[in-house]
Parts: sequence; structure tokens; C-alpha cells
Amino acid sequence: MGGSEDVKWLGSEVTVALIFGLIACLYTAYRYITGNNDYFTKRNVPYIKPTFFFGSVKSLVLRRTSLCDHVIAVYNQLDGHKIAGMFDFLRPSYVVRDPELIKYITVKDFDHFVDVPIIIPEDAEPILTKGLQSLKGQKWKDMRSTLSPAFTSSKMKILFTVVSETGQQLTTHLENCYRQQQATAKHESMLGARLVPKKTADFFRTLVRETIKFREQEGIIRPDMIHLLMQVRQDNLWEDGSSSDVNLESQNTSTQDITRSTKISLDTDDIAAQALVFFSAGFEAVATLLSFSTLLLAVHQDIQNQAREEVDKVLAEHGGQVTYEAVQSIKYLDNILSETLRIYPPAPLISRKCVKEYQVPGSDLKIEKDSSVMVPIVGLHYDSNYFPNPETFNPDRFSEDNKHSIQPFTYMPFGSGPRHCIANRFALMETKTALVHLLSHFELHTTSKTQLPLRLVKGLKMAPEGDFWCGFKLRKPISNVTSSVASNAVESCLLLCSNCGIPW
Ligand code: HEM
Repeated sequence: MGGSEDVKWLGSEVTVALIFGLIACLYTAYRYITGNNDYFTKRNVPYIKPTFFFGSVKSLVLRRTSLCDHVIAVYNQLDGHKIAGMFDFLRPSYVVRDPELIKYITVKDFDHFVDVPIIIPEDAEPILTKGLQSLKGQKWKDMRSTLSPAFTSSKMKILFTVVSETGQQLTTHLENCYRQQQATAKHESMLGARLVPKKTADFFRTLVRETIKFREQEGIIRPDMIHLLMQVRQDNLWEDGSSSDVNLESQNTSTQDITRSTKISLDTDDIAAQALVFFSAGFEAVATLLSFSTLLLAVHQDIQNQAREEVDKVLAEHGGQVTYEAVQSIKYLDNILSETLRIYPPAPLISRKCVKEYQVPGSDLKIEKDSSVMVPIVGLHYDSNYFPNPETFNPDRFSEDNKHSIQPFTYMPFGSGPRHCIANRFALMETKTALVHLLSHFELHTTSKTQLPLRLVKGLKMAPEGDFWCGFKLRKPISNVTSSVASNAVESCLLLCSNCGIPW
């Protein structure tokens, strides 16, 4: 009898201990999750009150809003403050709203903010850690100054041949859709994930290695990015003296401004890593820009007509050929792309990691080492103080007469300072060339599947609700399309045609 009471007593003691243990665990977890909640209060910085666990990103994570709308909402919530705070889940992050302070952080005092907060672990696949985007400090400076000569204006001319061939393939592909009377094609995104699985990394490394070996053995020269990277390795790009400064805005400084950097020798793994970064960073962003600009032209017929008139006129002056010089001289398309990037920037925000303590100019605030700083690019793009009627698609904002009135550091689709997009000139050249091919052969229009007004899909994907549905009407046969087929309009979803699997 006494024995069973002992067992009962022991049982209730265990239960109590378990309950206390559980409470202690929950309390510890709660303290861990909310431990940083007073981070900005302690520093006397205004901030967006965090929700439990999700911080300031709950509506984004739960797919109640798009990334652009989320960044705009953060920017607007912090109205009136030059610098403020928010929480990426549990991690506090500064939000810099003031253009002058953005200049300090991304350009003038760049040495305090050289790195970007990247989540790739140091011991991950070298093809991931060696890519320019992931490199830090001096390694980044050396790699950036080594690669920059591959993106000068003279190199754009070399790459143009391949780019224009691809533009030609795009129009031919659409023409084939006519011929086969394929009415629908469904979009799928190619490279949504930022982190590449090991199998893909291995495939990519082998592909680049074999390509380089083959070209070296056979003495093949193809005017593409791999060739430029091979030349960087052989040190052949440094002598041409052309500036690597993209000079899109005064806010984009040249690599000459990256002090104390030395060019480094690249091995095949380095080249593969850069090629993968260029592919993953570039492919989707350019596809997004091309898709949105095409769609906006389909919606705004007057702007499309004006663009086509200029395309036709310039091509006629160049013997009907899409040459580098012809593409360069079509100015209105530059304005259209700039305005598309304002409304739908493929990268709605940029981030920096503070690498040494920073005294914020004109305030008592000190940003501590290892803090994250976010620049809400799209928030500034939609601020009516900088861009009146921000919702309106108006390429004339960027005309020769008007673009000087845009306040520096309020328009940053390619980022800002020495860490701005290394390939912005290439990206614009690619997209513009594709548009020249498209407009010279097709009339673009919306279809019953295009969801109007255009609204961004909720979540991280940069696409409109209902995808990129756009109609194409052939203006003139590209090859030997019969006129009866050519007169039928075909509608297609941009980016990837699942009928044939060809991405364009
Ligand atoms: C419309 C197309 C593109 C847009 C809007 C875009 C935008 C951006 C932005 C916002 C950044 C971050 C800049 C910063 O933190 O200040 C960036 C970085 C970068 N982009 Fe692009 N990009 C585009 C196309 C490309 C292409 C085609 C390539 C490669 C061929 C490329 C390669 C890179 C690389 C390597 C970086 C990292 C630079 C560094 O850390 O030094 N991007 N891009």
C-alpha cells in the first residue's frame, strides 16, 4: 500500500517537474524571441513595433502583400524619420529613408558598409561563396575591380552580337507560335530560388570548366560573358583604358573609387562562380524588366506607338539592321525602361552590413558593427515628393529635359555606390535590344487573360497577379510566315513558353 503511494507521489513530482520544465522552456523561448524588442527603444530610434516572431515582415511572410508593397508600407509607416528601425523576424534592421543619408551610407562612408548581409554559410559550396555578391571586405574589393573591366562600354559592344542574335530568336520563336497557331503558353519562373542546390552547382561548374577547356583547345572565340571572364583571367581586359564607370547616376561610383584593391588571378572555380552569379543575379532581373516593360507598353498604346515610331525611324536610318549604334540611339526606349524600373524594380530594396561602428552624421546615433541597414528603394520611387503621381507610368520623367530634376539618391533600381549592380549597362542593353526586335515586328496588346489594373502578386515573386499575359500581333513577316497566319493575333505569357520550353 505504502509502495503505491510512493509511486503516486513520485509520479506527481515528475509531472510538476515536467510542467516547470515546459514553462521554463516556453519562457526561455519567449525571452529569446522578444529579447530584441527594445533594441530601438534603448537607442532612441523610432521603429515599427514588431509582431511576435515575425517582427515587421508578417504580412509578407504570410503572403498577404507583395514585396514591393511591403517595402512601400514600411517606408510610409516611417514617414518623417531620416533613419528608423524595423525587424526582419527577430533581427533588428535600420531603415534609411533620407536621400542624403543614403548617400553617406552607400557612397561617402562606404568603408563602414562594404558588406551585404548574406545568409550563405562560409563553408557552403565554393561556387556560391566565391561569387561576387557573396564576397566580403577586401576579397570583394579585389574581385570587383578584377571583374569590372568586363562591363565597360566597349565590352557591351562585343556582347551585343550574341544579345541581338537572341533577340532575333525571340521574335522567330513568337513567329513560330503564329505558324503553329498556339494560342496559349503558361509562364513559369526559371530561377526563383536564391540558393542553388549542390547538383545544380556541380552541373554549372562542369559546364563552365568544359566550355573553357574546349574553347582553349580549339581556339574558339565567342563574344559572350564566358569569353570576357576568360580574358579577365588572362589579364587582357585591363589595357583598353575604357572607363568601367557605368555613370547612370552620379550616385554610381566607379571601381577606381574602390581604394586599395588589387586585381586577382581567377581560377576556373572563380570563373564558374562569377558565371553562376551573373546568371542567377541577371537572368531573372532582366526577364522581369523585359516582361514588365512589354506589358506596360501593351497597356499604354500611345507610349508604344511613340516608341515604335522611333524604332522604325532609327532602323530605317540604319538600313533596317538592328545594330549596336541603332539601339543606342533610340532614346525613348531608355526612358521607358527607366520608368518601368521605377514602378517595378526587380530589386525593391538593398541592404548593407555595418563593418565598423558608424556615427550617423547630424545625430547622436551610433550604428553598431554587424548591424543591418536597409534602403527601401521602391518606397522612394513611390514617394510623391520625389515623383509626382507616382502610380502613373510616365517615361517622360526621364527625358533629357526632365531627368535633371530627379533628386539624387531617390531613384536607385540598380542600387547605389561602389556596390551597385556591376552589370547595369549590360542589363539595359540586353532589354533594350529585345524591345527593339519585338517592337519592330509586333504590336503588343492586352488580352482577356491580362489582369487589369496591374497588381503585383502577393509574396516574394516579382510578377503581376495572373502572370505576364500579353498579346502579340505580327506587323510584318520575319521569315516566311504566310500573310493569313500573320494576320491572326497570338497571345503568349512572357518569360517561358511551356509549349516548347524556350525561355526568352
Ligand atoms: C534589370 C536588371 C537588373 C537589376 C534591376 C539589377 C539590380 C541589382 C541591384 C539592386 C543590386 C544590388 C546593388 C546594391 O546593393 O547597391 C545588384 C547587384 C548585382 N548585380 Fe544586378 N541587376 C540587374 C541585372 C544584372 C545582370 C544582367 C547581372 C550579370 C550579368 C547582374 C549582376 C549583379 C552582381 C554580380 C551584383 C553584385 C554586385 C556586388 O556585390 O559588387 N545584375 N543588381
